[in-house]
Amino acid sequence: MLKNDMLEQWDRENFFHPSTHLAEFARGNVPQRVITGGQGCHIEDREGNRLLDAFAGLYCVNVGYGRQEIAEAIATQARELAYYHAYVGHGTEASITLAKMILDRAPDHMSKVYFGMSGSDANETNIKLVWYYNNILGRPEKKKIISRWRGYHGSGLVTGSLTGLELFHKKFDLPLSQVVHTEAPYYFRRPDLGMSEAQFSAHCAAELEALIVAQGPDTIAAFIGEPVLGTGGIVPPPEGYWAAIQAVLDKYDILLIADEVVTGFGRLGTMFGSEHYGLKPDLITIAKGLTSAYAPLSGSIVSEKMWSVLEQGTDENGPIGHGWTYSAHPIGAAAGVANLRLLDDLDLVRKAGENGAYLNKVMSQALGDHAHVGEIRGAGMMCAIEFVKDRDSRTFFDASEKVGPRIAAALMEENVIGRAMPQGDILGFAPPFCLSTEEADEVADKTARAVRKVLG
Ligand SMILES: Cc1ncc(COP(=O)(O)O)c(C=O)c1O
Repeated sequence: MLKNDMLEQWDRENFFHPSTHLAEFARGNVPQRVITGGQGCHIEDREGNRLLDAFAGLYCVNVGYGRQEIAEAIATQARELAYYHAYVGHGTEASITLAKMILDRAPDHMSKVYFGMSGSDANETNIKLVWYYNNILGRPEKKKIISRWRGYHGSGLVTGSLTGLELFHKKFDLPLSQVVHTEAPYYFRRPDLGMSEAQFSAHCAAELEALIVAQGPDTIAAFIGEPVLGTGGIVPPPEGYWAAIQAVLDKYDILLIADEVVTGFGRLGTMFGSEHYGLKPDLITIAKGLTSAYAPLSGSIVSEKMWSVLEQGTDENGPIGHGWTYSAHPIGAAAGVANLRLLDDLDLVRKAGENGAYLNKVMSQALGDHAHVGEIRGAGMMCAIEFVKDRDSRTFFDASEKVGPRIAAALMEENVIGRAMPQGDILGFAPPFCLSTEEADEVADKTARAVRKVLG
């Protein structure tokens, strides 16, 4: 194809990029990268660079790039029926089949799947369902949602409020008053270095309980959390955390929403993170790994307990007042069916666990002793390196030094993509599940080089 020489100029003049410094981009100080292709764990840009994508896009291209089975399923669906809606009992073979496939893989107590397009809108659905549920049960005051600092749940109005990262609130008049935040289960950043993991988990549960009591238990409807904190720093929970949190939620009759947008469909080496950590959620949010991002599709998996109340609600009030034009879009659903089949056929969930353990091991070997590496942590096919100014005193660099972004940029010069996580100096990895041992070695070696280049 002939190269369009205007593309870079058009980009700076017309395209509003998400999560981008708008003014610096317009001034030409944020590099542009036009992606043209992908195969396996690699993408290619229009300059001809081949990059090892060790973040799988935004931890979503779980089966890897260039899977013809999914492309064919999308093309076939588009040719046969590109669109029909799902309102008032309508569906397609793909959407009905996908709902069945999801429930076959979800925890036993889950009952139905509602489909949306993004993780944000699925969480928005979940909050509406929680509010509806408590209204039907005659508890109109029980509406607040507890989220965690450093949680990530999207960037809409309610979901941006749930997200516990400052950048997503500042100047947007968020969080909304219905959302309150509690402590992040972030052992490395524990307030008292003397605490064991178990003590820190007990501390998080005590903080949660104190918040519930201070707000009034009758005002708290639900707690939302990712099984492993993702965008907030890729932080697996400390020992005993989820059991301690669930005990508090049960005590005060508070629903649990497991946001499995990142962990759903295999990233931890199990089908769901809920399974991995023994959670019993009332709602599960899914997106990314549902289609491996070959088409936009998300979902809310609803438990039996909530479903029976939703049914009661429609008996009393008429059809559920919730739905979008693109709910259960056939092309997304076709991509989802093909993607879940591929996960099974290639045994990719097991491989995510195995290959992820290997990546974490080689990363620790390459950088575990570095004077500015405070922690290397991970779970399944997720890995993070947290940089510190001083290891012994666990002091952090000033954000203005931009240590994380500089290391990510140095790694990019090596043609490997890692992600500078938005809060703290943390370099994150969440590659496709098919990452080979050779590719994992390459990621670790080149990361070590990039770290030495920036920090010595
Ligand atoms: C855990 C989690 N929930 C929700 C979202 C929001 O998903 P989306 O960006 O598709 O709206 C994300 C996105 O990264 C996420 O990581």
